[in-house]
Amino acid sequence: MFQAPLPPEYMLLGAEEAAQRIRQARADLGTDLVILGHHYQRDEIIRWADHQGDSLKLSQLAAAESRASMFVFCGVHFMAESADILTRPEQIVVLPNMSAGCSMADMARLSQVEAAWEEIHRTVPGASVLPVTYVNSAANLKAFVGRKEGSCCTSSNARKVLEWALARATSVFFFPDQHLGRNVAAAMGLDVERDMTLWDPGLPLGGATPESLRRAKIILWKGHCSVHQRFSVEQIEQARREHPGVHVIVHPECSLDVVQAADMSGSTEFIRKQVQASAPGSVWAIGTEIHLVRRLQASLPDRTVFCLDPVVCPCSTMYSIHPRYLAWALENLARGTVVNRVLVPEPDRSQARIALERMLEIT
Ligand code: 13P
Ligand code: SF4
Repeated sequence: MFQAPLPPEYMLLGAEEAAQRIRQARADLGTDLVILGHHYQRDEIIRWADHQGDSLKLSQLAAAESRASMFVFCGVHFMAESADILTRPEQIVVLPNMSAGCSMADMARLSQVEAAWEEIHRTVPGASVLPVTYVNSAANLKAFVGRKEGSCCTSSNARKVLEWALARATSVFFFPDQHLGRNVAAAMGLDVERDMTLWDPGLPLGGATPESLRRAKIILWKGHCSVHQRFSVEQIEQARREHPGVHVIVHPECSLDVVQAADMSGSTEFIRKQVQASAPGSVWAIGTEIHLVRRLQASLPDRTVFCLDPVVCPCSTMYSIHPRYLAWALENLARGTVVNRVLVPEPDRSQARIALERMLEIT
């Protein structure tokens, strides 16, 4: 997405002045405004959020919020699109910086997924396949899934959604995150070699074979998160060597070997809750984005909390929501000017809503 440079007055704002202006604009907008903040946002942003959460919680909050007329989504583009789809048409959703995308979501484009869908059906005539898209995907992919009677999922409900889908079809076409799909399917008892096959959009027939497509219960799109692919089994082994008794908790966007070597895996909200509920004195090695890890570290001084990856691994697009952008978006809203509205056009909006609402029902 394209983000025009901020007006010079905002480019020069210092931290304190930006905070003051955000505070004032937020007060002026009152209860008309709700600020949603994903757990990966920096502290200088998350402090302004009315609600913090993982993708599922923020979608549910947006869907349930009937009073506010404006949402400012401090997260990435697909999250703001989901909020727009789940809110009423007259409710406005703003993303402070339009360049806050998600590199994983960009790994599956509608034209590629449609071509793959056709090829799978040409190769396995009469195949009974349901599509499931991780919410980290563009609205037009969610719309595709809605048209094909599939469902969205998040990292918190992927298992329930896969169980739902496999009770209705022989196989699931899962995109864009191969790791989440593989981790959940393996936890359900499916065999990586026998029951799963990878679809690489850059290869003929996705690099699969007619036999593997016929046999597969899950066809996994070859997408990944560049932040979570940094975590490794070696890091977990090192943490266990250096901190006997350490609890290792990772996000399911990590690879299968990492998830299986960890003690627990789950969404950002799950990670936060587990660590917060732990006993004082306990030690936690976490495999997810650094801003969430650091916030837990700072808020729980009686526990030892550290990131599995010694080299800091921020999500650069989440980080692109800077207080200057938030000040700019809020001050414009307070003046009656809507900037950076995220508005999913019809018919994608209604079709994507089917896939998102199905997910919320299953959850
Ligand atoms: P959660 O739904 O767990 O917050 O994950 C979103 C995400 O993008 C993780 O990289
Ligand atoms: Fe996307 Fe990965 Fe950033 Fe999550 S952490 S928003 S999956 S790039």
